Amino acid sequence: MSDPILRFSEERSVEIVAESFRACGNDRLRTVLESLVSHLHAFAEDVELSQADLDVGIDFLTRTGQACTDTRQEFVLLSDVLGLSMLVDSITNRAVGTGGTESTVLGPFHMVDSPPRELGATIAIVRGGEPTLVTGQVLSADGSPVAGAVVDVWQADDDGFYDVQRDDVPVGHLRGLFVTDGNGRFAFRTVQPSPYPIPDDGPVGALLEATGRHPYRPAHIHFIVGAAGHAPLTTHIFVEGSPYLDSDAVFGVKDSLVVDFVHVEVETEVQTAIELEHQLVPPYRHAHVEITLRVAS
Ligand code: BEZ
Ligand code: FE
Repeated sequence: MSDPILRFSEERSVEIVAESFRACGNDRLRTVLESLVSHLHAFAEDVELSQADLDVGIDFLTRTGQACTDTRQEFVLLSDVLGLSMLVDSITNRAVGTGGTESTVLGPFHMVDSPPRELGATIAIVRGGEPTLVTGQVLSADGSPVAGAVVDVWQADDDGFYDVQRDDVPVGHLRGLFVTDGNGRFAFRTVQPSPYPIPDDGPVGALLEATGRHPYRPAHIHFIVGAAGHAPLTTHIFVEGSPYLDSDAVFGVKDSLVVDFVHVEVETEVQTAIELEHQLVPPYRHAHVEITLRVAS
């Protein structure tokens, strides 16, 4: 006699649904789905999820999908405000090991084709904002400089908007792709970033509002740094003293990433070498960052 058919029951729901995936030939997919079902059913039991609750949840996810466009990713935002993006980042980087510069969330505003720029060039194509110089050096885990590393940077403007959120600035404003020199050094001119709200006019914003949370991120500049033989790094530098460092809407702040954007106010008789090199006249801000890459495993 064949085994009796297992009909759905509350008591055995996880086991019955897991069984339905038994023939799945993709091991990773089966493992993920079995675990998802197990946690999802436990969650529904835990909160005694009602049909009305489920309808609200499905409506929310439907609206989240409908809010997505080529330049807006509402699901990434949802993952960010739930702390899932940062958790996945931690899990991913746990495998890479310790010792390098810490990573943080990518966010939805990275552009695959950032404009290549000369070392020292400005990424601020449109005027406005407090002049800022960012200098840095990319190092390998043993402290040696990494020549030829690719440093991709992007940031919001002094009104808190990325280029893709505005139709009055060219795409590529406040973005740049730099290659480090023979000493692993890079430099670019920009404007002081300001804190800004993540896009909050959609379902994710409504979720924040309903739970009494604000949508702001502290002022920061994004980096993706890559070099041959090293694990790529996605990170930010945060402006020391910025509002919201202690309540980032997407949980992205790490103490090691907070950098002093030194205020250079006084014009001295003799311009410093850096001012001469970058044609800078005070007042301006100067941030210096050392980025250590882990060796690829
Ligand atoms: C950002 O920093 O660009 C960002 C990160 C998460 C959500 C929204 C924006
Ligand atoms: Fe950002």
